[in-house]
Amino acid sequence: MSGSTLWRNARLATMDDAPACGVTERGALLVEGDRLHWVGAEAALPAGLRAGIIAEHDLGGALVTPGLIDCHTHLVYAGNRANEFAQRLEGASYQQIAAAGGGIRATVAATRAASDAALFAGAAARARALMAEGVTTLEVKSGYGLTEHDERRCLASARRLGRELPVTVRTTCLAAHTVPPEFAGRPDAYLDAVAGWLPGLQRDGLVDAVDAFCETVAFTPAQVRRLFRAARALGLPVKLHAEQLSDQGGAALAAEFNALSCDHLEHLGAAGVQAMARAGCVAVLLPGAFYFLRETRAPPLPALRAAGVPLAIATDHNPGTSPTLSLLLMLNMACTLFGMTVQEALCGVTRHAARALGLDDRGRLVAGQRADFAVWDAVRPAELCYGFGCNPCRRVVFGGVERGP
Ligand code: NIG
Ligand code: FE
Repeated sequence: MSGSTLWRNARLATMDDAPACGVTERGALLVEGDRLHWVGAEAALPAGLRAGIIAEHDLGGALVTPGLIDCHTHLVYAGNRANEFAQRLEGASYQQIAAAGGGIRATVAATRAASDAALFAGAAARARALMAEGVTTLEVKSGYGLTEHDERRCLASARRLGRELPVTVRTTCLAAHTVPPEFAGRPDAYLDAVAGWLPGLQRDGLVDAVDAFCETVAFTPAQVRRLFRAARALGLPVKLHAEQLSDQGGAALAAEFNALSCDHLEHLGAAGVQAMARAGCVAVLLPGAFYFLRETRAPPLPALRAAGVPLAIATDHNPGTSPTLSLLLMLNMACTLFGMTVQEALCGVTRHAARALGLDDRGRLVAGQRADFAVWDAVRPAELCYGFGCNPCRRVVFGGVERGP
């Protein structure tokens, strides 16, 4: 036997006992390889397991949570859109800027012009900032390349992040982000092309899921349906940017395809809520984009709660609508702007975020799960939602190995 490591004298927020956010006092985690072998009050640790301990860390009573999971990011791109932020402050809307050729397409031009090395370096710096706040798993979408070559480059950069940094990376192909200039006025032809790229991207191990932007400034539900058929025919799970700026019925459509998640959802209606509940689809709420676009209509939290839809929270990091690199700030905003409880918010960046990525081996501190956890300079879980602009994360363990960001 290789021996195990004991992390002791912790206050454990295992996130395993929803809806109550319980804490195990004087808790201990026994780690073997990259897995949690045993979790509980240290006094209950079986003597037989103690015998195999080869290293021990005293956490001094610190709070320990599962490693955080950022289940919606657009981390790979070049340039920034501070100029559009300035334009919006002077009265232009996000949709107007997009219609005038800015928005996503501005970032597409910058991304296409960037080298692989520059794309990777930018994404790695962003990933490290997220990791410094306890993020151990993150999703990265493509969507700023919009040619087969450039989407492939962006997805390959995301895969390289997962190889070269300790964080786990799940990749999502969001080639259906907007219609690129080469296909102006021909969205259906573009989506046919995208459907044709998927088998090669899948064959090369570059894509874990397929996403689309269903919106007046992007694709219609009928168009998304065709793309989702192609994805599901390959066995790829789908996700959707749905009901962000208007109610397009995207969530109900995604639910038909058993989507892992529908994301944004400020304009989600009752039918969409019910369809998501029936399909077991996670609602990923993105308070950063809501805040940055100065939206006033929050996602329908009471209806989502009543229907039992699992709620997740993510940064949606992207240069246009959510240039944040703080998942902790999103916890705070989900509570203050959307009215989520501490328990809901913390489930939203742990167990429910894992589910939004189709992962069942993480997001809770229980035996058998991956040994991904974060150690905080905090006593109560509420402190992680309460502060903003501060980072109480002290140590991060990725698959049993402590690593600095
Ligand atoms: O998640 N909604 C679509 N995609 C991004 C924004 C992309 C951009 O403006 O660059 C989002 O908010
Ligand atoms: Fe997004």
